[in-house]
Amino acid sequence: MNPNLSELLTQTDRIMSGANGWHADPNLILPSGIYQGTVHVGVDLGTAYTVLVVLDENYKPIAGEYQFAQVTRDGLVVDFVGAVDLLRMMKSKIEQKLGFTLTSAATAYPPGVPEVERRATANVLYGASLDCTGFIDEPTAANNVLKIRDGAIVDVGGGTTGIAIFKNGEVVYTADEATGGTHFSLVIAGSTGITFEEAEELKKNPNEQIRLFPTIRPVIEKVGSIINRHIAGHQVDKLYLVGGTCAYPGMDKVIEEVTGVETILPSNPLFVTPLGIAMNN
Ligand SMILES: Nc1ncnc2c1ncn2[C@@H]1O[C@H](COP(=O)(O)OP(=O)(O)OP(=O)(O)O)[C@@H](O)[C@H]1O
Ligand SMILES: [Mg+2]
Repeated sequence: MNPNLSELLTQTDRIMSGANGWHADPNLILPSGIYQGTVHVGVDLGTAYTVLVVLDENYKPIAGEYQFAQVTRDGLVVDFVGAVDLLRMMKSKIEQKLGFTLTSAATAYPPGVPEVERRATANVLYGASLDCTGFIDEPTAANNVLKIRDGAIVDVGGGTTGIAIFKNGEVVYTADEATGGTHFSLVIAGSTGITFEEAEELKKNPNEQIRLFPTIRPVIEKVGSIINRHIAGHQVDKLYLVGGTCAYPGMDKVIEEVTGVETILPSNPLFVTPLGIAMNN
């Protein structure tokens, strides 16, 4: 696994919360706003979050933005105009921070998404004046960051649980099934009588997460049983959790219990895939 993972994720956390000690050499910014140095830009259009991340020439995170928005569902763009508007707004915020224009970006799609739908994702980038210069599947993006050779990457996002099994550094099996953070929020909303939006907030509040754990535990167990079904017949001796939902405290322990497989949780699972997408630009 990547020895610099924890440092990389800590830096990403820092830039996502606004801090940005990085400054471009002003001599490299043309009057048109185009930067002549190298940056790597990634866009993750998720079911729950749209994430934009910018890395410097050494692949170190220098700027980022993320927004809750339901513009795609499980890799399919369901609100094209909304997605373009959101990405434009996020791009413009980052350009203000950096002092130059972003011109190209990479993006990704969940495994199994048909070609025509993938094109819609690339078109969101074009709509936001970004050339789509890199396009990969999400598990491969995640593994640009994790750098595992064997085991399974489990991406529990907003809408789905994606599983990718790696052998000798190559993806040998993928699956993507409904059940993700949205289902956690729906269960919380249903059992407490609050709205979905309120449940989303409550779920992410560290002061409420222990109290809510028994309510969402069955959904985590379901994620575990999905994993079990897909790794059966493959020799998987480690699970690597990514995706925002895996940030729920205790999630990794339940997954380990249900699957009986050693489970590794990076310090900030939400940004693993977006970072890996940027590395592809
Ligand atoms: N601290 C947290 N604790 C629990 N859940 C969280 C936390 N932070 C984010 N989430 C949840 O993570 C989910 C979003 O994760 P992520 O950005 O990986 O998904 P996505 O890429 O938008 O969705 P998908 O991959 O399914 O298309 C949301 O359901 C959100 O509520
Ligand atoms: Mg995702």
